[in-house]
Amino acid sequence: MRMHRPRRIFLTGFSGSGKSAVAALVAAALGWRALDTDDIIEQRSGRSIPDIFARDGEARFRELETEALREAAGRVDVVVATGGGIVQSVANRRLMADGGFVVCLEGQPEVLWQRIREAGGSATERPLLSGPDPLGRIRALKARRQPFYALADYTVHTDDLGLPQVAEEVIRAWRRLSARAVRNPDRLSGEPVGATTAEAACWVNAESARYPVYVEWGALARLGERLREAGLSGAAHVISDDHVWHHYGEAALASLRQAGFEANSYVVPAGEASKSLTTASLLYEWLASRRAERGHAVVALGGGMVGDLAGFTAATYLRGLPLVHVPTSLLAMVDASIGGKVAVDLSEAKNLVGAFYQPRLVVTDVSALTTLPARELTSGWAEVVKQALIMDPDLLSTLEARVADLRRLEPEVTTAVVRRNVELKAQVVSEDERETTGRRTILNYGHTVAHGLEAASDYEALLHGEAVAIGMAAAAEIGQRLGVTPPALAERQAAVLASFGLPWQTPGIDPERALAALALDKKISGRAVRWVLLEDVGRPVLRDDVPPTLVRQVVRLACGVAEKPGDRRG
Ligand SMILES: NC(=O)c1ccc[n+]([C@@H]2O[C@H](COP(=O)([O-])OP(=O)(O)OC[C@H]3O[C@@H](n4cnc5c(N)ncnc54)[C@H](O)[C@@H]3O)[C@@H](O)[C@H]2O)c1
Repeated sequence: MRMHRPRRIFLTGFSGSGKSAVAALVAAALGWRALDTDDIIEQRSGRSIPDIFARDGEARFRELETEALREAAGRVDVVVATGGGIVQSVANRRLMADGGFVVCLEGQPEVLWQRIREAGGSATERPLLSGPDPLGRIRALKARRQPFYALADYTVHTDDLGLPQVAEEVIRAWRRLSARAVRNPDRLSGEPVGATTAEAACWVNAESARYPVYVEWGALARLGERLREAGLSGAAHVISDDHVWHHYGEAALASLRQAGFEANSYVVPAGEASKSLTTASLLYEWLASRRAERGHAVVALGGGMVGDLAGFTAATYLRGLPLVHVPTSLLAMVDASIGGKVAVDLSEAKNLVGAFYQPRLVVTDVSALTTLPARELTSGWAEVVKQALIMDPDLLSTLEARVADLRRLEPEVTTAVVRRNVELKAQVVSEDERETTGRRTILNYGHTVAHGLEAASDYEALLHGEAVAIGMAAAAEIGQRLGVTPPALAERQAAVLASFGLPWQTPGIDPERALAALALDKKISGRAVRWVLLEDVGRPVLRDDVPPTLVRQVVRLACGVAEKPGDRRG
């Protein structure tokens, strides 16, 4: 059978991916005409797109967009640059796929943001750029659209290509693939795998599992619905601690029951002591008494302690029940609930018995932070600052600019910052689920000294985040002395940590015990301690050549038994 190439090409992709410019180049090379759906809308309506958005709303704009696409799809010998959100409608995808070849132009958010900053984004996506953390918003919006972009017949990764090269790639794909592709006009009509609802913050794409993390202010009210959407049914066994249960237990049960789950609960005493094999045994007995079956969900409602304990129980009972994390502490929201590490403690050490076990979904109700004790909240900010320092300059700027709003838990900015942190952690976990490639190691920034201090105080004097804050100060000091970390960066870090009320040293802990704990860590892992140091915000480096004398000095400083850095440097 002779096959004909279609005489229409549609370019999809985010603002900044170069759709209009590439459409013009491809059209010129093929002797066709370039069209742009945004231009068609403006010409037909005689109005600007921002005006349509402002006066008639997005829904009306989307109708006009579909009309414009229909008009373009009625022509031949055209290359059509489409609006960034066009792919989300199944009707639009069908219009493009029926007789057209669909190419997505891809780009990393950082690259797109750079191009948008230089050239200005499309009119529909320009509102994205106002307000704080535009890069974060690009990432979030792009992540939501990604499953739809991925449906294209072909994708060109544009990050390292000039426009003519992108155009060549489009033409090459069209020559090679389009005749076969267009034989099925319904090929883009299905719901894409992983399509998210508007609220889903992001997906963790670990090798062993893919799951959504919902981050919303008030998410608990929709807990049952979320479980249903994730394909769960039957019974939901909720595990919590008594502090958290007091605030959120009834609401969680009500939401689950309303969605048709047979919901029941087991409440353990709050505190790390519950994260034990003894408690896990009690939970196994309880699950057996409730006749828990494969397919029944275990819901971990609480901070990191509950998440680890309930996760460990879910991972092992019947060789694994579906796990749903509902983190309620800041630490659990931005760290413990993402990444699939579950464990219980032994008397010898924390987290000694555990597994990698990814949840089925995570439902994060940011409003739960309003009842978290102040010291726990402050401690949680340390992990947030850490993730900004190692991965996201824009987030760091937001933390600096909005510290007062964040500390009083202003809903919008707090939700945005928690969501961004989830995305960051999810990215790293997606790249290195089991800590094999080294990528996940960067998350240990500040953790080397923190572990030593925590162990030296029998995990009593310091909360984890407090120890991490002191550990980051220590890492910055080491970085400076090795010429890795610029002094201005160390000062900036110190200022942001202090603004969140976090300490930089902890008088009262014996530095020799902390050093002994570090040496033990090294002995257990059987290799040199790998220090994560910062060259710049977003640029961590790994070093295993930090001289022991320097480590000793810095640990002494962290324990308040050495002179202040300013005195020494002066
Ligand atoms: N799995 C991982 O990847 C990972 C990562 C980091 C930490 N962890 C583990 O997490 C644990 C620490 O987590 P954590 O700091 O959340 O401790 P936690 O779970 O003990 O919570 C701290 C305290 O806050 C209370 N609480 C939690 N949420 C509340 C809320 N919304 N309102 C009122 N009170 C609330 C708890 O009852 C508890 O008293 C440790 O066991 C640590 O090993 C695990």
